Amino acid sequence: MAPLIKISPSLLAADFAHLADSIAAAEEAGADELHFDVMDGYFVPNITVGIPVLEAIRPLTKLPIDVHMMVHEPARYAQAFADAGGDIFTMHVEACDDLDASLGDARVAGMTAGVSLKPDTPASVLQASLPFVERVLVMTVEPGFGGQPFMPEMLPKITELQNMAKIAGHDLEIAVDGGIKVDTAGDVINAGATTLISGTGVFNYPDGMKIGIEAIRTAGS
Ligand code: DX5
Ligand code: ZN
Repeated sequence: MAPLIKISPSLLAADFAHLADSIAAAEEAGADELHFDVMDGYFVPNITVGIPVLEAIRPLTKLPIDVHMMVHEPARYAQAFADAGGDIFTMHVEACDDLDASLGDARVAGMTAGVSLKPDTPASVLQASLPFVERVLVMTVEPGFGGQPFMPEMLPKITELQNMAKIAGHDLEIAVDGGIKVDTAGDVINAGATTLISGTGVFNYPDGMKIGIEAIRTAGS
């Protein structure tokens, strides 16, 4: 049976002056979770939102919130983001001095522990940590900005992670982030991704977010 595909709208593409409306629209359009991009201006060359904004939006939705930490040593903030309402804590392997300890910190704080890989980082860096990882986020653009073109050369990495998990007998959720739109979604789904994060692809979909989410979700079939 084909795996269920989850769609996670990235709030980076939302209307920040009317965030509550964007969240309600995403929920109404059938989103499965929300993606909250945190950038520190050091790990990536951009700065976005953080703990107080997460706290403010938490009561607005029941959807799980994936906190994508594009931050140096993100585990320092695991408890604070958990307290603010984060459900999934996705940290970059390149930003963690001790990945296994960082994953432990996220879990102790009560969140699902996720790991993200920048485009130049191979799947093999996760070989040893795989049993402790619940979810991997494969970046399909360089992290830092929304609206960039999808990198098709990331497709084999998705399949490789899927195979690594299969061999290890480990249930791994594979998410993708960056340039995910109707015309790229089919390829990532067929490569093995089950959670599709999309910012401009859903918020700016010409026929509205509801049709956009459904089109992306079914692009692989
Ligand atoms: C970029 C962020 C993404 C971004 C994706 O570093 O991690 O979540 O919002 O934007 P799109 O889907 O527009 O490429
Ligand atoms: Zn992201």
